[in-house]
Amino acid sequence: MKVGVVGCGQFAGSFARLWNLHPEVDEVWVTDLIPERAEELAAKNGFAGTMASYEAMLDSDLDALALMTQRWTHAPLASQALRAGKHVYSAVPMATSIDEVTAIIDAVNDTGLTYMMGETHYYYPVAMWARQAQAEGKFGRLFYAEGDYIHDMDHGFYAAYQYSGGERWKETASYPPMLYPTHAIGGVLAAWNTHAVSVSALGSVDDRGDGVFDKEVSMFGNDFSNMTSLIETSDNGMIRTNEFRRVGMAGQMNESQFRWFGTEGVLEQSMLGSRYVTRTDTVELTEDFRTKAPEVGEALDIDPALLESFESGNAPVQDRSRLPKEYDGVRNGHLGSHHFLADDFVRAVVAGKQPPVNAWKAARINLPGIVAWDSARQGGERLPVPDFGDCPLEIVDTSTPVR
Ligand SMILES: NC(=O)c1ccc[n+]([C@@H]2O[C@H](COP(=O)([O-])OP(=O)(O)OC[C@H]3O[C@@H](n4cnc5c(N)ncnc54)[C@H](O)[C@@H]3O)[C@@H](O)[C@H]2O)c1
Repeated sequence: MKVGVVGCGQFAGSFARLWNLHPEVDEVWVTDLIPERAEELAAKNGFAGTMASYEAMLDSDLDALALMTQRWTHAPLASQALRAGKHVYSAVPMATSIDEVTAIIDAVNDTGLTYMMGETHYYYPVAMWARQAQAEGKFGRLFYAEGDYIHDMDHGFYAAYQYSGGERWKETASYPPMLYPTHAIGGVLAAWNTHAVSVSALGSVDDRGDGVFDKEVSMFGNDFSNMTSLIETSDNGMIRTNEFRRVGMAGQMNESQFRWFGTEGVLEQSMLGSRYVTRTDTVELTEDFRTKAPEVGEALDIDPALLESFESGNAPVQDRSRLPKEYDGVRNGHLGSHHFLADDFVRAVVAGKQPPVNAWKAARINLPGIVAWDSARQGGERLPVPDFGDCPLEIVDTSTPVR
């Protein structure tokens, strides 16, 4: 298959390289609104080449497009690409409105093409362990979970938004925390197969005074830097999520934290460690979830604080046996999740099926945050969250080795 990568900023290279290495991928092409970024990425990695624009990619013989553009841009590009006959991989989030989510689901339904949202936390060590534990009944009935995505602006985000937004970066650096809900909710739902029914959220107005979370400057009209939501689930449960962008926490601590509470057991990943407890036992999991240093590192031209979170090997609980051998020793990222995500997408396309984080699962991960953003702007009003149901299309089996 031939893959076109749209957007060649800070995040795209890692995935483009993995697709280029995949045994089922023949060619990788790239494009960017800033053509030098595409040219540099293609030349450095020996990709097939660059294309002039996203529109040129739509008109090409590429099979699939990977959207690596800024967070609020994905959904319209995804719908358009599906309608143009391309399979779509989208960086998170899926969308920023209910209408955008609906349009993507309709497009996948109409075309039967593959859509995947690349949620890294679906393959985080703690989420993989929790998914297995849930399948084995180790939680009993899950009734409550917490998911936090804590990324302090001072931990790399100023540099990242300046690179991304150019001179007008402050307009976009105020991106509403609840419109980036996929790590916190995606981590929880990676193990718990439920969906939101309603949500109530609150936001804390920023007081740094540096013009970033300033309603007058923000293209989203947002002045919340920290937000919290409480979600009612369809199966008599509750989920609490935190999206914090101003918080005094060291960068090397777990920026994502999760707790799943069941009638028979509890799993906790806190800032400092992880453990599973039952009424009678405690299982220490901190080392099982710790990713090892990558065997092959590669310098990225970005802030070192960001690099930290991009670089990682795998943790003992992440079984690599299903992955292509071409990925062995290759730079990974985000707690070892990149290899799994890149492989999921290729396999789904080749099989003509949907990946685990398909449009329907992605909708369940995104919609509570989209509605939470509305709720917080209405002072915490409890609002209903729509649901599109389970994926009606066949999901690819990724449990066996790729070749
Ligand atoms: N853990 C994770 O899942 C994770 C981590 C980092 C980034 N991300 C996501 O990855 C995406 C990219 O992040 P980034 O830091 O690389 O952003 P970035 O701003 O550094 O890069 C985006 C690039 O896309 C280009 N672009 C925008 N619209 C385009 C278009 N229509 N056609 C061609 N090029 C276009 C821009 O010029 C820019 O170079 C974001 O959506 C972000 O949310 C996810």
